[in-house]
Formats: sequence, C-alpha cells, structure tokens
Amino acid sequence: MLSELKLDQPRKLRVALVCGSLREGSCTKVALEYVANYIESHADAFHLDLQLAPLPFFTEQNKQENQLVIEFIDQIKNADAILIGTPEYHGSLTGVLKNALDYLSKDELKNKPIALVAVGAGQYGGIGALDAMSSIMKNLHALVIPYQAAISSSHKVIQNGEVVLNEYKSRLEHVAEQLLLFTKRISSTDIQHQTVAA
Ligand SMILES: Cc1cc2nc3c(=O)[nH]c(=O)nc-3n(C[C@H](O)[C@H](O)[C@H](O)COP(=O)(O)O)c2cc1C
Repeated sequence: MLSELKLDQPRKLRVALVCGSLREGSCTKVALEYVANYIESHADAFHLDLQLAPLPFFTEQNKQENQLVIEFIDQIKNADAILIGTPEYHGSLTGVLKNALDYLSKDELKNKPIALVAVGAGQYGGIGALDAMSSIMKNLHALVIPYQAAISSSHKVIQNGEVVLNEYKSRLEHVAEQLLLFTKRISSTDIQHQTVAA
C-alpha cells in the first residue's frame, strides 16, 4: 500500500514518463498515466511526449544540434527516475522508443532508477518488450526496478482510456510503489552523483 511507504523526502520526486506509442488512444499511455496518477502526491510526473516533440532518426549531428533532442536528453538527465512504457512490436520495443533511447548514454542513465511497463495484444504480450528494454537499460548501467508490468491482452485490460481489470491495476500500483521506494533509497544515498573510481 502506498500509504505504508515512509517517503518523507523534502521535495517531490521528478519522474519522466516516456511512451513508445504514438497511437491515438494508446493503451501504453493509459497505463503510464495510471502509474503517474497513483504516485502524484509524492512525485511530479511529466511526459516527454514523442508525438508532440518527435525526435529525428538518430545521427551524431542530431544529437549535437537538434533542439528537441537536446531538450529530451536534458530532461532525462534532470529526472530523479524514469517510467518507460512501450507496446510490444514483434516481440520487442517500438522503433520510436528505440530511436529515442539511442540518444541516451550512461551520462544520463547510470544509476538512474527505471520502471518498465509493456503492453501487448497477445496472450503473453509485453514480456518480450520488457526483456528488450531491460537489456538496453542494463547496457546503459541504469538501475532497472525488478518488478515490471506486462499487460497482455491489452485491449481487454484497457478500454475507453481506463484500466478496467483490478489485477492489472494492482500490478501498475506495485510498479508505482517500487519506483518510489527505489528512487527514494537511491536519492538518500546520493549514488546518482557519486563518481566511483574504476
Ligand atoms: C507492428 C506491430 C507489431 C506488434 N507485435 C506484437 C507482438 O509481438 N506481441 C503482442 O502481444 N502484440 C503485438 N502488437 C499489438 C500491440 O502491442 C498492441 O495492440 C498494443 O496494445 C498497442 O499499444 P498502444 O495502444 O499503446 O499503441 C503489435 C502491433 C503492431 C502495430
């Protein structure tokens, strides 16, 4: 239960939301907003909306010069934690999200708490996408929160912009609680800002 967490941080945590779907009425976006609403008394969640601010395909030049890219990287760097959601496409994350993640490096993500949610239409939908995102995050030395939510049979679970099944509400609430807990613990040790000698 959220109320049982002792989260007496001096300020609200800044949590960036990144959604890998550009679909109107996206189930993934609904799931991310459910998590964000659940933690709103503890965290300021803000969308890095890849539809409103579409990032060009990755090139080194875009990384250096494109204002949307520069802003995206900056917002990620300044967030205390990141909540990432994606639809599963062909057993993996979407190209839109992968392209956005290609702009990031350990400079922004090392020791950053990352919560993952994936959505898929199939019976086991979302699991492949979670694995793929975990692997990317491991590569970037991010702190991936072990509890992740796969929302299978997405169009039964999410209808008319709402999560309708209690089992999945519970899963998303657990993601939210773990995100807060991890982020609070990491922030209190200030590990994000420590330089550990090799
Ligand atoms: C190109 C493409 C590939 C897909 N591949 C999978 C898949 O591998 N597994 C699955 O469960 N669903 C798959 N789906 C279905 C989507 O994951 C599902 O419709 C999801 O709810 C879409 O998320 P959104 O509403 O946030 O856009 C695929 C959909 C598309 C368009």
